Amino acid sequence: MTGVLDSVVSGTRIVPVLTVPRPETAAPAADALAAGGARCAEVTFRTPDAERVLKVMAAHGGPAVGAGTVLTVEQAERAVAAGARFVVSPGFDGEAVRTCARAGVPVVPGVGTATELMRALRAGLDTVKLFRAEPLGGAALLRAPAAPFPQARFVPTGGIAPRTAPGHLAIPAVLAVGGSWMSTAGHLDRGDYDGTRRLTARAVERSTG
Ligand code: 3PG
Repeated sequence: MTGVLDSVVSGTRIVPVLTVPRPETAAPAADALAAGGARCAEVTFRTPDAERVLKVMAAHGGPAVGAGTVLTVEQAERAVAAGARFVVSPGFDGEAVRTCARAGVPVVPGVGTATELMRALRAGLDTVKLFRAEPLGGAALLRAPAAPFPQARFVPTGGIAPRTAPGHLAIPAVLAVGGSWMSTAGHLDRGDYDGTRRLTARAVERSTG
């Protein structure tokens, strides 16, 4: 399953997290992310139109679009049906994880403790989201689990900024970092797609350089 996530991230090691305010901003946002070099984007289920946004972006082309902030089995089912290429959650829900696994959609649950990480590993996963990464301890926290859990890989997300992302990316167990700084709801609301393109390009450059 992780191999599929690798192909979604596709070497860029950056997951832009989007909360899209209006569905009409979805296609230009996808274009801006693609122009910045992003290979994937996570559309959060935090707005009433998230499902529609997912469908629009999936049909539009550009970055592989996944669903984020998936909290329930029902949302997982809706995300899969809307064409999500991967599913991300802030926490671990065994039934939601099984729903995605049955559908063959890579799922990245959130963990904040060793116990939660062990639960995710027991569910057959090896890639998890560390959430909220910065308040929990940032890159320093991630160096610790690498020893007892050499098989685990992390997508730290939450509070990460351009200046702190490289510290996470320097850790071998980190597959990619996620964050909303590249394309905030404000960028999309103002129609500042060029801002999204610029911030994405900078993040991609630093993540691969
Ligand atoms: C998420 O859902 O992953 C987070 O909201 C992204 O965190 P950030 O907004 O602090 O980057």
